[in-house]
Amino acid sequence: MKGIILAGGRATRLRPLTKITSKQLLPVYNKPMIYYPIQTLARAGIKDILIIVAPEYSGQFLNLLGSGNELGVNLSYEVQEEPRGLPDAFIVGENFIGKDDVALILGDNIFDHNFAESITSFKSGARIFAKQVPDPERSGVVEFDQNNKVTSIVEKPEHPKSDYAIVGFYIYDNRVVEYAKSLKPSARNELEIVDLHNKYLEKGELDVNIIEGMWEDAGTIDSLLRVNNLIAEKVKQGEQI
Ligand code: G1P
Repeated sequence: MKGIILAGGRATRLRPLTKITSKQLLPVYNKPMIYYPIQTLARAGIKDILIIVAPEYSGQFLNLLGSGNELGVNLSYEVQEEPRGLPDAFIVGENFIGKDDVALILGDNIFDHNFAESITSFKSGARIFAKQVPDPERSGVVEFDQNNKVTSIVEKPEHPKSDYAIVGFYIYDNRVVEYAKSLKPSARNELEIVDLHNKYLEKGELDVNIIEGMWEDAGTIDSLLRVNNLIAEKVKQGEQI
């Protein structure tokens, strides 16, 4: 299993913080944000990691992380010229993925969950992860039956059918590259992760694992502040994050 961290985009919502650097290089307490998704993958046993970055900031990522040796991982980089939606990660990352399965983590998603068990038990299809939250309308929302088979999946619905938000960590078999290439851009001119999931769902090959513990999408100024405080607390209590 290989890992991809999607850390492209221009994060205009976070300006002026992101005027001269990438969102994923901003501090989360005592480390740059990108350290957390790298550690999440490493903790899950994934050491071959591709980081997809925006052209303006590629040099900064390289200066900070280099080969990944210091973090015990093996890093590769690709530049994404324009943000074209999450599934574009599998098109940009096609050569890196080769014939392997792949886990994608969004560069602004911070977890303390260990995904190792979900990765070792994965055989084929697609596996997504959900967490019960008070505000599911901010995320993709999943409905599922008692066997963890997904029955519906909707991106940021006005009236969510469940309170399970889809978090920014996904596992796919190698078909994901072909499926991503076959997607058509949506009305906002991006490839949509929900369309990718529906390809697997139509075949009955999408399952969901529920996670507990900390999950934050640090993409807004308030969630960034919240996650800084959460990590500060954990570090002061001696937790390894
Ligand atoms: C993306 C996904 C959404 C998911 C979220 C997790 O949304 O489209 O389904 O719940 O990440 O962080 P974004 O935050 O890019 O708007």
